[in-house]
Amino acid sequence: MATYDIAGKVVVITGASSGIGAATARLLARRGARVALAARRAARLEALAAEIERAGGQALVVPTDVRDEAACRALIERVVEHWGRVDVLINNAGLGYAKLIGKMDPEKVREQVDVNLLGVIWCTNAVVPVMRRQGNGHIITIGSVAGHIGLPTSSIYSATKFALEGFSQAISAELAREGIFVSLVCPGFVVTEFNERLKHSRADGFLVVHADYIARKLARLIEQPRRKLIIPWTYHVITGPMRLFPGLVSWVVRRIAPLWIQRRLARGKAASGEAGSQ
Ligand SMILES: NC(=O)c1ccc[n+]([C@@H]2O[C@H](COP(=O)([O-])OP(=O)(O)OC[C@H]3O[C@@H](n4cnc5c(N)ncnc54)[C@H](OP(=O)(O)O)[C@@H]3O)[C@@H](O)[C@H]2O)c1
Repeated sequence: MATYDIAGKVVVITGASSGIGAATARLLARRGARVALAARRAARLEALAAEIERAGGQALVVPTDVRDEAACRALIERVVEHWGRVDVLINNAGLGYAKLIGKMDPEKVREQVDVNLLGVIWCTNAVVPVMRRQGNGHIITIGSVAGHIGLPTSSIYSATKFALEGFSQAISAELAREGIFVSLVCPGFVVTEFNERLKHSRADGFLVVHADYIARKLARLIEQPRRKLIIPWTYHVITGPMRLFPGLVSWVVRRIAPLWIQRRLARGKAASGEAGSQ
């Protein structure tokens, strides 16, 4: 298996203002990568860049709303202007709202599709010509275990994450001969702002992990590219049967649905009226 160095690589990370994106930026910068930080909250990106630079790393802040196709193009152009290339794109920006179908504000439906799916497409579309010119590159997209199993209250989020599987498979086949590798990374529960309710929970490394854990897996993935990662591995217990016995798993999900819905929506109300999806 080919192994690549992280040091010196130019890595663009969307959703770098918190959670998995910020943890990954910190780790990759420590390992010698030049990291371009993209998200909407510019002040957070500036603070992260300052922290990275104080520790001797290199960071470039490019405030970006990935819903805006032109902004995604401008992000990639800015990075190429600054560092001359893009070695790795990490499509990480994403969000989810827990609601029942028919009860969701259409704006929130659109936001999830725009960020989780179209944002990935816009950034990828912008970076591919650059990677083609270079003759190499690595596109990593953060999907979810929710992209393998549809759970009640997460229909829109799941729909966007399922779509990323098809998108990644198709572009992987298109780009393989051009030296561009495509990976899909599917985390289970990760303690980040996305999952507010997990904020005070201890990551057990079994079903719940910290963002740093995902960051380490992403660093390893850059060194040794693979098509797909499910993190932590324990979630294969769900994704495996879902592939082999979809009818049986759907039956189980329908049985637990009333309890699941009650708990998810109660948590959502207790927080902000919305709750993160996995
Ligand atoms: N946490 C989990 O349990 C879990 C599980 C499976 C998959 N994931 C996936 O992991 C990824 C990262 O999530 P996280 O857990 O690290 O959550 P997080 O801490 O809430 O981070 C989400 C990031 O997405 C960015 N973002 C949201 N809307 C954006 C927009 N319109 N334009 C640009 N950036 C935008 C946010 O930045 P701004 O608000 O500053 O724009 C933030 O940096 C997401 O794709 C999520 O679906 C998370």
